[in-house]
Amino acid sequence: MAAAQSRRGTGLFWTRLSRCRTPGPAQTRTGAGPHRCLSSVSAPPPPGTWSSELSRLSHRDLYRLSVTNPDQFWGSAAADRLRWVEPFKRVRDCDLSSGKISWFLGGKLNVSVNCLDVHVEKHPDRAALIWERDEPGTEVKVTYRELLETTCRLANTLKSHGIQKGDRVAVYMPVSPLAVAAMLACARIGAVHTVVFAGFSSEALAGRIQDAQCKVVLTCNEAVRGGRVVPLKSTVDAAVRSCPTVQHVFVSQRTENPTEMGPLDVPLEEAMSSQSPVCPAEPLDSEDLLFLLYTSGSTGKPKGVVHTQAGYLLYTSLTHQYVFDHRDGDVFGCVADVGWITGHSYVVYGPLSNGATTVLFESTPVYPNPGRYWETVERLRISQFYGAPTALRLLLKYDDSWVKKFDRSSLRTLGSVGEPINHEAWHWFHSVVGEGRCPLVDTWWQTETGGICIAPRPAEEDAPIVPAMAMRPFFGIQPVLMGEKGEPLSGGSVTGALCISQPWPGMARSIYGDHQRFIDAYFKPYPGCYFTGDGAYRSEDGYYQITGRMDDVINVSGHRLGTAEIEDALDEHPAVPETAVVGFPHDIKGEVPFAFVVLKEESGLDRAAVLKQLRELVTTKIAKYAVPEHFLVVKRLPKTRSGKIMRRILRSVAMEKSGDLGDTSTLDDSSVVKEIIEAHEQYRKQRAEEEKKKQQ
Ligand code: WTA
Repeated sequence: MAAAQSRRGTGLFWTRLSRCRTPGPAQTRTGAGPHRCLSSVSAPPPPGTWSSELSRLSHRDLYRLSVTNPDQFWGSAAADRLRWVEPFKRVRDCDLSSGKISWFLGGKLNVSVNCLDVHVEKHPDRAALIWERDEPGTEVKVTYRELLETTCRLANTLKSHGIQKGDRVAVYMPVSPLAVAAMLACARIGAVHTVVFAGFSSEALAGRIQDAQCKVVLTCNEAVRGGRVVPLKSTVDAAVRSCPTVQHVFVSQRTENPTEMGPLDVPLEEAMSSQSPVCPAEPLDSEDLLFLLYTSGSTGKPKGVVHTQAGYLLYTSLTHQYVFDHRDGDVFGCVADVGWITGHSYVVYGPLSNGATTVLFESTPVYPNPGRYWETVERLRISQFYGAPTALRLLLKYDDSWVKKFDRSSLRTLGSVGEPINHEAWHWFHSVVGEGRCPLVDTWWQTETGGICIAPRPAEEDAPIVPAMAMRPFFGIQPVLMGEKGEPLSGGSVTGALCISQPWPGMARSIYGDHQRFIDAYFKPYPGCYFTGDGAYRSEDGYYQITGRMDDVINVSGHRLGTAEIEDALDEHPAVPETAVVGFPHDIKGEVPFAFVVLKEESGLDRAAVLKQLRELVTTKIAKYAVPEHFLVVKRLPKTRSGKIMRRILRSVAMEKSGDLGDTSTLDDSSVVKEIIEAHEQYRKQRAEEEKKKQQ
């Protein structure tokens, strides 16, 4: 039996498992599988038991086990690492071709208990959060006990305002202890949170609230970032006007500025102060919804990616510990916003489930100066620093003294996420920031994958890291590269569509309200596999490197955007019959939107005014970061005979590769291309002149 072999091969990892593997009625009932011994794990092992057992094992053996016997690997991990109210009866029931994914069936647990109560029992006064506020030196520490109490007060506040299990709750807040407490309060009572990045416009917020049919919204009066105050409440006010499902808006006072309160509004701190700091945790099914997080796809409408309880928590917990080599007593510094999946998995759920001290970074990489990150590392004694390549590309332009003047000896692991990291940024991060002594992990994953899927660690201690490569699949992840005809590619030195052939506990379960879209987007393109939307290269050594998106999704400063979303916003302008947006390289942001715009042939149309209105449209419909950097007015767009816009050609023109347009035989009218190249040539000259003037 594979299990017996693995046990031999992996030694201590299985001690607990074998200890409780005494034959009993449950064994006869359910057959082979680690869930048999769950009754004996209702009292969980001390923290780190799993890890200390694992740390003595070869990662290669563990990986092999995770893919050859996932039931045993994940079943044991879930039993040992999570506290269950009721043991699960079956490890998984998945069928990727029909998009059916269930893990730890029959089990009941509460995520907030696993993130808070279990740690309060052992170390109530350990800092759970360090809120690194915008002004340096004003950080606030929140202990596990305090975070549990705040979460309970907030949960009771939600309950007393009619929120029940299954209700959706929108969180439109900056990174702050209350945002974390809001997420955990939902988890405590079984409500489903949907955090919306507080940089999104009121229309983008309204669209998400409407799709999720949220009953309440939690927000702040204002956000503070980079020394500037950003109004949030007024954005929420504008959004909820078109959201009839919203019954209450809870408003926290981040600043002292007064806020105008309307009939729906409830002052959050005041409401919480009269609530009990104790709130019983709802026992939830492993597959009950934990949260929705809206993200961009290749069509215009953002999709509400659904994550559930046990599988997501287990996956974030395991990846957080192993990819970053997190150890007890570390200060984990992930500088992402809670509005993105990185904030969910590696600011909140992963670290808190491991009893870590996690940093909430409210500021920007350059406030008040380009030394901010490293000054924070010195002051908070950060052990792991996890950030985005876009910020690194910005910072490496400044003098290295901004890094070197701060003590970075506390750093042990560096991490990068969200977009491909270029060699220059990788080497700067590794040598200048990490002084060449900290492993730098380029982590590839997605909102849909829940947690890190490909990263250089874990690996054998001495395994070298190849710069700018995500390298290795995490436990349980089986990457496959597919060729143009949908055939799996074998061997090394191959490039193809990146798919994952086996389910893993952290993967998304659905798209909220549209399971068919979930199946169509992820499981139809390569039947039986999860399709990531990314391309990848596999080296002769079997390591993976991500080559970028294969669909119409672009990545602006590490933020995912569908070009169709931007087109939809632009197309609302009455003078604009048609647009096409493509991604265009940018040396700091990675990519920026480049818009090709067709204008109505009207006499007296003021082009400059229209372009200004188009910029405003994108800002109000989506967010500032989505505004195209380039607008090129053209007479027509290149289309196939069936009327499909050929974005590939537009990409080549924008990149000044018009000598290399590829196959143009399907073009309906090839003269369009010549027109566009000419228009682009003029645009380029005009930009160059403007640049020159700016420099003078
Ligand atoms: C891209 C962010 C290259 C990729 C966690 C993916 C990356 C999309 C990397 C998901 C990386 C993320 N190297 N590309 N290390 N990490 N991406 O959902 O295109 O916001 O599909 O999740 O970002 O973006 P999302």
